[in-house]
Amino acid sequence: MPDDLAVIESLYPEAFPDEDLLPLLGELLRESSTTLSLVGKIGGLLVGHVIFTKCHVAESAGADALLGPLAIAPAWQRRGMGSTIVRAGLQRLEDAGVTQVYVLGDPAYYGRLGFKTEMRVTPPYELPPEWVGAWQSQTLTGAAKPRSGKLLLPRPWLQPALWTP
Ligand SMILES: CC(C)(COP(=O)(O)OP(=O)(O)OC[C@H]1O[C@@H](n2cnc3c(N)ncnc32)[C@H](O)[C@@H]1OP(=O)(O)O)[C@@H](O)C(=O)NCCC(=O)NCCS
Repeated sequence: MPDDLAVIESLYPEAFPDEDLLPLLGELLRESSTTLSLVGKIGGLLVGHVIFTKCHVAESAGADALLGPLAIAPAWQRRGMGSTIVRAGLQRLEDAGVTQVYVLGDPAYYGRLGFKTEMRVTPPYELPPEWVGAWQSQTLTGAAKPRSGKLLLPRPWLQPALWTP
């Protein structure tokens, strides 16, 4: 909804004061055929947002997705909203036939949501050694067999700066 867009755009600088994710956000929202954008609301107030981008592994037939970015308004953090919208997204993806979801993020957080370190599928750019454990994935119901290879993502994600500290 157009009203939601302005709130979503204000959410990211609040949640990530040291990072400008708005160009990425704008590009991903424009690619609505390959992205799933979900908001989290409390009493009508938009307090959270997450995007999943559909992608796949080279030479694999499976349908995959990348989680990110994810932002919760600072005043509403640690109240379960991040977990709620991620779980809702995973369910929607599973219903749509996606069988594997990747994320680059803090394992202390994403581990609670079922993600585990991913070693077989590699991100589009090589990660610095300290980030290797932050590259994670989760297999959803219906996955045929484990993937192996490079994750192929649409253009908005093909920026090395998004994959370096
Ligand atoms: C990280 C973030 C998405 C989590 O969403 P949330 O709604 O605050 O988290 P939830 O309420 O679902 O889960 C809370 C639990 O996750 C853990 N957690 C929350 N933020 C965390 C963080 N930044 N790192 C590690 N663990 C975190 C805590 O253990 C917390 O449990 P506790 O309060 O019992 O200790 C949110 O805090 C946020 O937007 N932060 C700023 C932006 C950001 O870092 N985004 C992550 C993108 S990779």
